[in-house]
Amino acid sequence: MNESRDTRRVRVLIFAASLRRASLNRRLAELAAVMIEEQGGTADRAAMADFDCPSFNADIEADSGVPPGAQRLRDRLVAADAFLIASPEYNASIPGCLKNAIDWASRIRPQPFNGRQGLLMSASPSMAGGNRGLWSLRVPLEHLGARVYPDMFSLAQAHQAFDESQQLKDPGLNKRLDRIVAGFVATATALTRGPS
Ligand code: FNR
Repeated sequence: MNESRDTRRVRVLIFAASLRRASLNRRLAELAAVMIEEQGGTADRAAMADFDCPSFNADIEADSGVPPGAQRLRDRLVAADAFLIASPEYNASIPGCLKNAIDWASRIRPQPFNGRQGLLMSASPSMAGGNRGLWSLRVPLEHLGARVYPDMFSLAQAHQAFDESQQLKDPGLNKRLDRIVAGFVATATALTRGPS
């Protein structure tokens, strides 16, 4: 039996782990979302503000359960096959708001990261592009059973990297991003829908 293209379309939750309006990571996430759609995936765009939570506190959990931000993250993950996070690097590690949301969401059963395909990106004005933060982010996600794609994309000097149409100025970088996204969509589709 032939599966339709729509049935095979992998659904990817996409968000930038920054709360600020002019986020460079948000611009990178949007560029990746367009590439995911071009590669035949469905992009479910979200904002970190949707998932923001008070600092984890087991007393809050006991008194009023998991906060709405983490519930929303859980719901969007469950509705997706895969996720893409474009995350800033803060002091060589994960932004607190993202780690906090992951910690809260990890309290929900079934635990929503388990078995989901993940792709990690970062953008930073620095020369390293926030890459160290992604290695930190990989640890809790893999601990929770997410299948984090081996390739990651870090955009260095991100404040100067975009042109007016929000594309990357450097064609080589654009090609590398496109190749990583294409590989991720193909892998996530095969792993969640079976080989074509
Ligand atoms: C930063 N920034 C930063 N950048 C980096 O490449 N490595 C780092 O370790 C840090 N550390 C750091 C700590 C704190 C507390 C802040 C506020 C910032 C700079 C950071 O990459 C920059 O602010 C980005 O623009 C943040 O991402 P968004 O908000 O533009 O997506």
